[in-house]
Amino acid sequence: MVNEYIQSNKQRFLDELFDWLRIPSVSADSKHKNDVRKAAEFLKEKFIAAGADKVELCETKGHPIVYAEKIINPALPTVLVYGHYDVQPPDPLNLWNSPPFEPVIKNEKIYARGACDDKGQVYMHVKAFEAMMKHNTLPCNVKFMVEGEEEVGSDNLGIFVKENKTKLKADIILISDTAIISLDHPSITVGLRGLSYVEVEVTGPNRDLHSGVYGGAVANPVNVLAKMIAALHDENGRVTIPGFYDKVVELSVAEREALNRAPFDLNHYKKELAIDDVHGEKGYTTLERTGIRPTLDVNGIWGGYTGEGAKTVLPSKAYAKISMRLVPNQDNQEITELFTRHFLSLAPKSVKVKVTALHGGQAAVTPTDSKAFTAASAAFEEVWGKRPIPTRDGGSIPIVALFKKELGLDTVLMGFGLDSDAIHSPNEHYGVKNFLLGIETIIAFYKHYARS
Ligand code: BES
Ligand code: MN
Ligand code: MN
Repeated sequence: MVNEYIQSNKQRFLDELFDWLRIPSVSADSKHKNDVRKAAEFLKEKFIAAGADKVELCETKGHPIVYAEKIINPALPTVLVYGHYDVQPPDPLNLWNSPPFEPVIKNEKIYARGACDDKGQVYMHVKAFEAMMKHNTLPCNVKFMVEGEEEVGSDNLGIFVKENKTKLKADIILISDTAIISLDHPSITVGLRGLSYVEVEVTGPNRDLHSGVYGGAVANPVNVLAKMIAALHDENGRVTIPGFYDKVVELSVAEREALNRAPFDLNHYKKELAIDDVHGEKGYTTLERTGIRPTLDVNGIWGGYTGEGAKTVLPSKAYAKISMRLVPNQDNQEITELFTRHFLSLAPKSVKVKVTALHGGQAAVTPTDSKAFTAASAAFEEVWGKRPIPTRDGGSIPIVALFKKELGLDTVLMGFGLDSDAIHSPNEHYGVKNFLLGIETIIAFYKHYARS
């Protein structure tokens, strides 16, 4: 019955999602402030149309949070669905094959910024809810909380959660904002990395100088920054910050073996990224490097002249944005402090260095023996015909750890994206099949969860 409903309404579901994807809800860019709100209002209307009660925009210091609920019986359990309607900036625009906010389907994939991360995945929940309401089969209570600031650190959501514990009372958090291994190998994410994100500024002389007149005699902040960054890893690919690994929990041999049993084809991985070799911390596999090991990467670096042609200049300043992905037990604030102390110590006297913490969050591991995990597992088995494999993802959703800390709630990370969906990158896309199977799997989750 539900499958028929999904099949016969498929085109409408996609049309609605496309309308939503056309709204450029880029949370990082203040010129899109109104678009972000428009995307929130759009979602609010869809929740009302689907049959939710108490649908509201909750104002914050930043972008609004969309809240909706359907309480069918207070004695029944409550699922709290979290997601985000904000998207990453679409640049570099020239690398998109079709405009980021004009969704199109090519090869059965929806191409648009936010198609997978996370509007497409949130919309599966809206349509799953609609289908259950239409057929009177919603088996428990549900609350939805969809924020507009995930891609910029969820600071205001953190405040909202702390201030609205009663409103958010639930039994389990359900999130679709992660990936499966492949369509042939469904999986459930059981670990996310934490994050410490900093910006560094290196200042040399008080103004840009002629690189011939002064070059060689005055420290060039770009040269210095490059050297400082290079010093952050040793020859084994380990991060050199003193204390960086102190709190990292080493997995047992058995745990590492289990993790490496997940299907993973290194050749395919390299081919898909057009690289001849992978890279990383010595002694660990690729799956371990992204799943259970902390890492450090420069996300952007700039300074001096970057326009067309040549300009001979010794710049006054150089900058970099650096992210550190963290694993359970590492504290992001502590890591930011360790980074800052170490980075300052690397600076020669000829420059001044400033480190600014931008945002961060703790890693999370979710239990695999809970009622909700068992229900998610059963839902995948029912819809995909295969038992899902537990995986540790390299990305971060900092609010997951906060949900545990503030609300005492565990999360089930039932995402349906693929690593190859190019999230945060040009030509982001999401499989139509993933979208439709996702709706089905979510509905099956409720059924199994309410039964148990
Ligand atoms: N949905 C992603 C996180 C993700 C992606 C988890 C793939 C697992 C697999 C989320 O929207 C995201 O991009 N998070 C940011 C962190 C945030 C604080 C900016 C990230 O991981 O960079
Ligand atoms: Mn996301
Ligand atoms: Mn994202």
